[in-house]
Amino acid sequence: MRKTNRSIVLIGFMGTGKSAVGRLLALQEGWPRFDTDEMIATALKMPISEIFVRLGEDRFREEETAVLKKLEVVAPSIVVTGGGVVMRPENVARLRELGSIVCLTADSATLLERLGRRSNRPLLQTDNPAETLQTLLREREPFYQEAADFTVDTSSLSHDQVAQSIRDVLALSN
Ligand code: S3P
Repeated sequence: MRKTNRSIVLIGFMGTGKSAVGRLLALQEGWPRFDTDEMIATALKMPISEIFVRLGEDRFREEETAVLKKLEVVAPSIVVTGGGVVMRPENVARLRELGSIVCLTADSATLLERLGRRSNRPLLQTDNPAETLQTLLREREPFYQEAADFTVDTSSLSHDQVAQSIRDVLALSN
């Protein structure tokens, strides 16, 4: 499934390991890495959690689309996205231009366990995070599937194994 000179775009729900795997792939391939959440936080000069509280989700989504539009990718790169990016068709169209879209998944028990370790996901700051997670997952799953070129289930894999699976599918060097 080799696509020469094409970037790798990581999509998927919160807690599937996009950021860590993105860092690893960038290091292993010696490619630049772009993380839309990091870019939004830099542009608005505040952490994502604060953006949600002070400016609201709608503003965050506007900014997410704006950073993707502005993204200048001149060489094969790793592009890491936030979990909600697939909900806007224009974002998905932009991601497709950039390269191969890889969706990371995990079963909901694994996600809850991983996400429970930290409280930095504004969308899960609800009375019942487990239920919120299920609702969001159900709503988003078809969008992830529609956008992805291929999917890697990370539930029982280390970050290294996930990165390796992606390199195997894309026939990248080890
Ligand atoms: C979001 C996921 C977060 C971040 C924001 C919204 C979402 O990124 O973009 O909190 O809508 O799922 P991660 O997927 O990296 O946690």
